[in-house]
Amino acid sequence: MSKLIFEKSVKGARSFTLPGSDLPDRVPEEIPADFLREEDPLLPEVGEVEAVRHYTELSRKSYGVDSGFYPLGSCTMKYNPKINEWAARLPGFAGLHPYQPEETVQGALELMYELQRMLCEITGMDAFTLQPAAGAHGEMTGAMIIKAYHNSRGDTKRTKMIVPDSAHGTNPATANMLGYKVIEVKSDERGLVDVEDLRSLMSDEIAGLMLTNPNTLGLFEENIREIAEIVHAAGGLLYYDGANANAIIGIARPGDMGFDVCHLNLHKTFATPHGGGGPGSGPIGVKGFLVDFLPVPVIEKSGERYRLSYDRPRSIGKIHAFYGNFGVMVKAYAYIKALGNTGLKEVACNAVLNANYLRTMLAGSYDIPYNRLCKHEFVASARKQKKETGVTALDVAKGLIDRGFHPPTVYFPLIVEEALMIEPTETETRERLDAFVEALLEIDREARENPERLKEAPHKAVIRRPDETAAARNPVLKWEPGK
Ligand SMILES: Cc1ncc(COP(=O)(O)O)c(C=O)c1O
Repeated sequence: MSKLIFEKSVKGARSFTLPGSDLPDRVPEEIPADFLREEDPLLPEVGEVEAVRHYTELSRKSYGVDSGFYPLGSCTMKYNPKINEWAARLPGFAGLHPYQPEETVQGALELMYELQRMLCEITGMDAFTLQPAAGAHGEMTGAMIIKAYHNSRGDTKRTKMIVPDSAHGTNPATANMLGYKVIEVKSDERGLVDVEDLRSLMSDEIAGLMLTNPNTLGLFEENIREIAEIVHAAGGLLYYDGANANAIIGIARPGDMGFDVCHLNLHKTFATPHGGGGPGSGPIGVKGFLVDFLPVPVIEKSGERYRLSYDRPRSIGKIHAFYGNFGVMVKAYAYIKALGNTGLKEVACNAVLNANYLRTMLAGSYDIPYNRLCKHEFVASARKQKKETGVTALDVAKGLIDRGFHPPTVYFPLIVEEALMIEPTETETRERLDAFVEALLEIDREARENPERLKEAPHKAVIRRPDETAAARNPVLKWEPGK
């Protein structure tokens, strides 16, 4: 394990030389004593070369889409073209202040307005808000709109929200946060919403159904039209979780499938790098009859001028400081403009092709519970390895780290035992996919020949088998002397 920068510290070492201060060596009286330090801060003291090496070493320890294959299912970890970063950093965008008068930010408002229009075209919705900061935040905004709609009609009996048993955890969590009772609809033997089960759950207490399509098994809900009819006939609304939109952009639209509200993850589908808690964006689109409930402010265009309007009495209110994460919107705008209709369609086609290639190549060695044409991702299972050798999905994931790959999502969706949820995305080459297949086949061989070695993997990573619950619940993010 390499040394911490504090451990490399040598008293008096410096990365810079500044001229001596010509200010009096005393604390100005205006600073209250309570705000003064009693001791000097403990800062590492190193020369420039050691400081540079420290940060370079840290960056090499991180793994991201720019360093290798990242097939984390449900996350769409694809390459994000650097030109979009350039666009977001343009001084005219990056230097804006949210309190600037409207007439000085016309370009930014135009970009947001146009982005909303493009997202409407991509999804088949009638209006969008760009405010939500992530998919989960979009879900919450969408579910608030659904609630506001029912309430506006005096339909206050609708206290239940349906989510499939394959749903991402944010769907039931969102519904629960808004006070809905979560009702689970079963998947059928083909991995799709069980239409008869759904029918049996419908009543005048159902506010709606939250659905991902393709679902978290990477399978397209073929009965989506019928599902929409069932929910609508009972007075409920359909919410589209757009986390998997990378599979369908340019090809199919939630608005045409019968969804009333939908979110998109700009940080998955539209070229913002994600992970590590960076800013995301989960815009919400709605059908015409829900437009009045969108959050304020709404961007309006009159003639050639753009303005922010708060004049929406039925709005659910404000859901983000100012207008959302603007830099992410610039990247999405640049990405969509660069690809155009044909390019977006190619994204979806290649994402689907890559997933099906991997699925086919792995099917002989790993169980694929729903082994048929998938969309952008598929779920394999290590249950055969577990039964025959004791090696689990977690061990397979750790074995991949030793072979230079980021593991796929494991143990999700919950309806697949020993799940390995693999999403290659469209930006990977055939050579990269083949290398990944080879790594998984080698792991399968190792499971049979030397399972103990896999049980102790990863052998090459800095951190090997942390207590993942403790690491997530009690992260140690800062070094403190003596601890
Ligand atoms: C299917 C699905 N829905 C919703 C979300 C939530 O999106 P976010 O992480 O942007 O909040 C995710 C995130 O991975 C997801 O995979």
